[in-house]
Amino acid sequence: MRPKVLVTRRIPENGLELLREHFDVEVWEDEREIPREVLLERVRDVDALVTMVSERIDAELMDSAPKLRMVANYAVGYDNIDVEEATRRGIYVTNTPDVLTNATADFAWALLLATARRLVEADAFTRSGEWKRRGVAWHPLMFLGRDVYGKTIGIVGLGRIGKAIARRAGGFGMRILYNSRTRKPEAEKELGAEFRSLEGLLRESDFVVLAVPLTEETYHLINEERLRLMKRTAILVNIARGKVVDTKALVKALKEGWIAGAGLDVYEEEPYYNGELFAMENVVLAPHIGSATHGAREGMAELVAVNLIAFKNGEIPPTLVNR
Ligand code: DGY
Repeated sequence: MRPKVLVTRRIPENGLELLREHFDVEVWEDEREIPREVLLERVRDVDALVTMVSERIDAELMDSAPKLRMVANYAVGYDNIDVEEATRRGIYVTNTPDVLTNATADFAWALLLATARRLVEADAFTRSGEWKRRGVAWHPLMFLGRDVYGKTIGIVGLGRIGKAIARRAGGFGMRILYNSRTRKPEAEKELGAEFRSLEGLLRESDFVVLAVPLTEETYHLINEERLRLMKRTAILVNIARGKVVDTKALVKALKEGWIAGAGLDVYEEEPYYNGELFAMENVVLAPHIGSATHGAREGMAELVAVNLIAFKNGEIPPTLVNR
């Protein structure tokens, strides 16, 4: 009998095709996420799972899945998985690094530029007919935004994605500051990046981009006290995890003008709605789509399959995260 894999959302076909060559594959076809009670039921006889960041893979789930031997997360982040508990039970956990690095770094820049140059506001102004109604063809003071070229970017978290964001900053002639748990001398040399304490980085940067994983240490890393350190002209970009920022403090900061704007792809709860935040013109919001390009998502699907096939062949999966 072929091992059974449950894939908790439809992923690109290239990955499913590969998986079908080796496994008995069940795919949850609904666009919405699999209800928790259904998931707990469906995992009873599976050998492996392909999971999304929106599913909590914890001891309760593992208790419901006595045959489970591997969880392949369709994401680079794996804060949704209790890896320690999985390791204790001998369950492999894998993620999808590298294949989404450039897409996610591009998206950080899309948010940064869109926020700095007020692109969403300008789009609404143009397509609503407001421009035509006002009858002002061109005005020297219309939609003035923030300069990007030559400014200072502060990157919090200099992993793969943080470095890719920094590389792009080189093309914008920026001074690059970074903060991470440890100093990265090689990256400093390659990127010309300067290490700062988090507080120092927040004080000096015109753009602060969050690229850290969510851990106990990074939960609400950007809180009221730290937001108050940022320049009043600065923009915060979050492509990491929503819980890295204390949303209440961020809303206050934006409302009271402690910072100039924010570009957000991730939220404390997802899907997310916050009337107060969403009414603000100085924010650009996306529904957690940092890695959403055809190439990245197909790369992720392939990597998930490659990991599972290695596991089936008795090999160590290439992007194992258990320690
Ligand atoms: C990730 O990979 O961690 C993203 O947040 C989901 O694609």
